[in-house]
This record gives sequence, C-alpha cells and structure tokens, in this order.
Amino acid sequence: MLPSALAAILLCTGATAAELTRDNGALVGDNQNSQTAGETGPVLLQDIHLIQKLQRFDRERIPERVVHARGTGAYGVFTASEDLSDLTQATLFTPDKQTPVFVRFSSVVHGNHSPETLRDPRGFATKFYTEQGNWDLVGNNFPTFFIRDAIKFPDMVHAFKPDPDKNYGTNRTLFDFFQHVPEATRTLTLLFSNEGTPATYREMDGSSVHAYKLVNADGEYRYVKFTWKSLQGLRNHDPREAERVQGRDFNHMTRDLIEAIEAGNYPRWDLYLQVLEPEQLVAFDFDPLDATKIWPEDLVPMRKIGTMELNRNPANVFQETEQVALAPANLIPGIEPSEDRLLQGRLFSYADTQMYRLGANHQQLPVNRPRVAVNNNNQDGFMNFGSRTGEVNYEPSTLQPRPEAVAARYSNLPLGGMTQQRRIAREQNFRQAGELFRSWDRKTQQDLIQTLGSALAEAEDGAKHTMLSYFYKADARYGEGLTRVAQGDIARVRALAAELVD
Ligand code: HEM
Repeated sequence: MLPSALAAILLCTGATAAELTRDNGALVGDNQNSQTAGETGPVLLQDIHLIQKLQRFDRERIPERVVHARGTGAYGVFTASEDLSDLTQATLFTPDKQTPVFVRFSSVVHGNHSPETLRDPRGFATKFYTEQGNWDLVGNNFPTFFIRDAIKFPDMVHAFKPDPDKNYGTNRTLFDFFQHVPEATRTLTLLFSNEGTPATYREMDGSSVHAYKLVNADGEYRYVKFTWKSLQGLRNHDPREAERVQGRDFNHMTRDLIEAIEAGNYPRWDLYLQVLEPEQLVAFDFDPLDATKIWPEDLVPMRKIGTMELNRNPANVFQETEQVALAPANLIPGIEPSEDRLLQGRLFSYADTQMYRLGANHQQLPVNRPRVAVNNNNQDGFMNFGSRTGEVNYEPSTLQPRPEAVAARYSNLPLGGMTQQRRIAREQNFRQAGELFRSWDRKTQQDLIQTLGSALAEAEDGAKHTMLSYFYKADARYGEGLTRVAQGDIARVRALAAELVD
C-alpha cells in the first residue's frame, strides 16, 4: 500500500501510525488486561481484541517445507557478462544487464530451527525476476544428487529423516535404504566429507545439478549445466570444528550471511556455464543427463557468464524467506528442462507442495510476484488478491484477445521407441566417486574415512558390507580405510566389489 493511501485510511479511522489496532483497523483500548465480569469474575467472550489476538496466534505456523525447512534468504542482483543470444532467447544473458534476485540457502533433512552444523547437502536456490517472467534456478552446493529417478525421492527422504518409531535418525535405516542405491556412491562420499558441513553459506559453491536446455530464437537447443563459484573462496568445517561451533552457535550460517550483508560486506558468486550439443550426449561412457554425474571440466569446459551479489536482508523472514516459493518449473522462454528423470519429477513436485504449503495463489505474494504483468484465466482460490478484471475469463476471445507468443513455444525433441520402466543404460555408479576421493588431500580423505566409517559401523552387517563394496569399487584405498573403521571383513568386501560392474 502507498504511504499516502495508508495515511488517508489512518485519517479516516482517527488513528495515527503509532497507535495499536485490531485487524480491521479499529483502535485497541487496552492490550494488557482482558475484559472481565467485575473485579473477580471470568473473562468475557465479548472481548473481541483478546479473541482475535489468540486466534491469530493459534494460526501462526504453516506447514514447514517437507525438505529444506531450515533456510535463510537475501536479495541481490545478477549482472550478466556474456551475450548468450546464440544459445538462448532468455534476455537476462545480455552483457551488463542487471536482474534482481532473491536467494534462499538451506539445509535439507532437518526441521526449521535445527542446528546448521548438522551434516547435510545445502540448498542454493535463486529466483531471477527477469523481464520475461521469473526463472528459478533451484540448485544445491553439491554438483550431484543421490538418486537419478524422482520415483525414489520420497523413500530416500524417509530414510534420511528421523525413524517413524523413534523420532531420531539412525544409520541402521539410512544404509538399509542406500545398500539398494549404488548410484548414490559419489554423493554419499560428498555428504560424509567435510563438504557436508560447510563453514558459511558465503564460502560455498552452487550447482544446477541437472542439465537444462537453452533454446535460441531458431528453436535450436543445447544441454547446459550451471555452476555458482564463490568469490569468498571455499571453507568447510572438519568434524571437530563442527562440534565446537555447534556448542557455541548452531545458527552460525544464517548469522554469518545476515551480519556480512548488514556490514556492507556483500557476498558474490560468478555463474559458469557448461554446454553440450545434443549429439554429444552419446559421446560419454556415462549418461550426461544422469543427475548422479558431473560433467568433468576437462571434458566440458566452463565459461563465466555473469556475477551475482547479495546486498539486502529481508525485513520479515516469514513473509519473504519462509513464503518464497522456488520451483524448477518456473522457467522462461529460452530455458527448458532436459529429459533428466529426476528433474522431470521436480517440475511437478515443487508447485504441488507450494499449493499445499502456501495456497494456490502463492505466486501473488510480494516475494514471488513476477515483475511483469500476469495475464491468464487462472482464477479465484483462497487468498486471491490478483488484478484480473473484466467480463472475459476464457481464451480465445474476440472481446479481449490474449495473443500467444509463437517464439515462446516449447522446443521439439525427436523421439522413437516404446514406453518403458527401466534403469538407464550407462549407469557408471562408482568411477566419479573414486575420482572425487583421489582429488582430495590426505586430511580430507582421512576425515571422510573416519566419519563415514563410523556411520557404517552402525549399519546392519549385510548393508554395511554391501555399502563398503561400493566405496571399495570406487577406490580400493578408500574402501579399505572405511572397512577398517567400520570393522568390516575386507575379504568379503573385495568379493562383493568384484561382482560390481561400472
Ligand atoms: C525428484 C527429486 C526431488 C524432489 C521430488 C524434491 C522435492 C522438493 C520439495 C517438495 C521441496 C519443498 C519445496 C517447498 O516447500 O517450497 C524441495 C525443496 C528444495 N529442493 Fe528439492 N526435490 C528433489 C530433488 C532436488 C535436487 C536434485 C535439488 C538440487 C539440485 C533440490 C534442491 C532443493 C532446494 C534448494 C529446495 C529448497 C528451496 C527453497 O529454498 O525454498 N531438490 N524439494
């Protein structure tokens, strides 16, 4: 509401900006004492201020996000540095063009207000308010994911979350699930490494994880992955530091971001792009549309395409950070989903949960509202404060034409074959996990072996040895170290690993 409009309303009611009102704008006479029947009698139902205050309090909580409940957000700006018009119709990628953004960082498994020191992947989700509508890049700090098919996601989350009979998580159920998911080997390696306990959100990279498609004005598409690289550098806690920090301040990541921005120490990330031509998808010994894989930089080089700066904290965490609805389906002309099976499931799941969590009209909330006009015939529903007017709420119409933009049509994908339900062809579940392990220095490797080995020690015997065989297959020294800490049988691990194909 405009300040002048607010002033006019306040004048009409006779209130001033400082005076306390009920939700209908009427002045409150006493906010300290309930209305009672005489000096010693009961409280009266007719105290409408008291009743409203309690009713509103009773309804303060909304469902928390089913995952990524704990988060912190900030506003900023993305400045493009490269002309990508050969690749995409998305105009935000024009040199020096500035696009406002809102970023929400998060942990994944644990609830709202849980310690930020807990081991977890971290969400790195960015809403770009572009002149072509909102584009959400909903990524993580890890560049790979545990699974490659959305049908496994609810089971995986159940296995990570507290056990239903105890309300705390156990490694017994975690590895009971993951013994059946060899494709998780690389991302579990990341999770149990010190990258699972980043020191701050500012000192963390981000990744789209999935491939998307960039589509140009001629309808030609290429597959791309996006990577955020922190200009603050990277810093993780080792297990001892994580314990120390947790004893002192388990909000350390949220506090760090808010205080840095308050101090004018604005964090920045460069955005990088990797590009594959459609015909290159068959040129790798792994499937480039498998979310459990990176595109190694020596095979697919990265090119810097812009920089993001975060420079403003939200004024109200609930209204902005809690009610922000980031969804992989929020795409704009020129940016489309790839055929990645995990991403395809996410296209549905986020808008669906947000209609449940926030309501059907959540895109009208200030933090979610596109900065361009929204013209369609989606209407009504709870809490609708949209601006659709007039007699025509259908399309096509001659009374009020709403032309379609031919350039915004989806690109065309050549297809053949039959419908099916099968695992992908080029699984390669272990190689990239081994390469990741060998890329780390001795201390990082030792911290991982100690942390993951201790967790595996709590698994059931069969699950423990199956899991150990996956890590052994990735790298023999890694598997041997884990087997020692987990007190497994190395001969059995070797025998199981010998049966695995990569
Ligand atoms: C099929 C797999 C997945 C499903 C079904 C899924 C589902 C969800 C759901 C239901 C939410 C809560 C959204 C909300 O309430 O606003 C969420 C949040 C989130 N997910 Fe996923 N997820 C999947 C995989 C992934 C992957 C692969 C990534 C990273 C690339 C990711 C990153 C995030 C992030 C960053 C958030 C928090 C967004 C925010 O800050 O509001 N998810 N996910």
